[in-house]
Amino acid sequence: MAILLTGGAGYVGSHTALALLRAGHDVVVVDNLENSSAESMHRVEELAGRSLTFGQFDVRDTDRLGKLFADGSIDAVVHFAGLKAVGESVAEPLRYYANNIGATTSLLAAMDAAEVRQLVFSSSATVYGDGGEPEYVESMPRNPVNPYGQTKAMIERILEDVAASGRGFRFSILRYFNPVGADESGRIGEDPRGVPNNLVPFVAQVAVGRRPELLVFGDDYETADGTGVRDYIHVADLADGHLAALASMPAADRAVAYNLGVGRGWSVLDVVTAFEKACGRPIPRRVIGRRAGDLAACWANPAKARAELGWTARRSLDDACADAWRWQSANPSGYS
Ligand code: NAD
Ligand code: WQD
Repeated sequence: MAILLTGGAGYVGSHTALALLRAGHDVVVVDNLENSSAESMHRVEELAGRSLTFGQFDVRDTDRLGKLFADGSIDAVVHFAGLKAVGESVAEPLRYYANNIGATTSLLAAMDAAEVRQLVFSSSATVYGDGGEPEYVESMPRNPVNPYGQTKAMIERILEDVAASGRGFRFSILRYFNPVGADESGRIGEDPRGVPNNLVPFVAQVAVGRRPELLVFGDDYETADGTGVRDYIHVADLADGHLAALASMPAADRAVAYNLGVGRGWSVLDVVTAFEKACGRPIPRRVIGRRAGDLAACWANPAKARAELGWTARRSLDDACADAWRWQSANPSGYS
């Protein structure tokens, strides 16, 4: 198949592009490089030993998208493009709504015009919000607590409405838990701009000497060691989840959500210990107060993805830390 990846130069997109090329698919990427680098695409081509097609433009440019679809070669789309920083979304909600919702409606319009009606969407565990139970099941209500999460919940709703309109669309909605790690080559990985928001890239930058210490956001949660618990999923397993979703798309006029997670949680200190093992050096850390909006614990119930997509996470947290360290130590400043 020929698959269009919006936002395919980013962290999850580049690993998925690699997995698709390795599986023999053709890959077309559209990315405005707002939060990524074209170097990731060169490295994906080098690792796959095959080339992909890359267009640098905004997905909200429906005209350019239309031209891309015009030759009729694209079979399906994976929609990664979006802004994803929770704190930034609180400070700049309009930018988040305009980008994330606007990119999705522009894409759906171009797809409809070209009669391409299969889409896999990058959603997030953040759509569940603070629902009570730490183990999330797809049937739980959406209850996002920040503008970023709202955009994901709204897009899921848009996809459900478009599916129900009877035009033959098939939507697979993948709710990622906490993606971590890198391709085992260490050639591609997560390269956040500025101070990392997420735990593993921050720990990796401490390990490589770019930052003096990790700040642990609270150790007074009701968890085994008091620190926050999350479901960390290796990005290569997540990439494989997209291939599984493309191979088992829902029936026409259906939008179906799947959790992509391991199915268990690890604490902040578990992650630090695993990373110390991977890099062979201590990670200085200091406990400070809780981060606003954080939950104590959450993890996926991944049974639906296993049953309906035949997908399950195979790699361990130790694998993810070893791969993240290989990437970070070989590329201390990321792609630049
Ligand atoms: P990323 O920022 O590395 O990748 C997103 C890519 O989209 C970037 O390359 C960016 O330049 C591009 N982009 C953004 N807006 C665009 C637009 N309007 N037009 C064209 N390109 C645009 O993020 P990621 O971690 O790879 O995440 C991919 C997707 O998965 C996002 O939608 C994100 O919300 C979602 N997600 C990520 C996580 C996570 O923790 N990484 C968890 C759950 C869901
Ligand atoms: C993990 C744990 C922190 C950084 C976020 C988004 C979510 C999704 C994934 C996109 C928590 C603790 C972190 C640090 C720390 N993204 N922590 N010190 O918050 O589970 O999810 O990314 O959809 O929407 O909200 O991930 O990596 O930020 O935090 O102690 O410097 O690490 O408190 O317990 P989170 P995270």
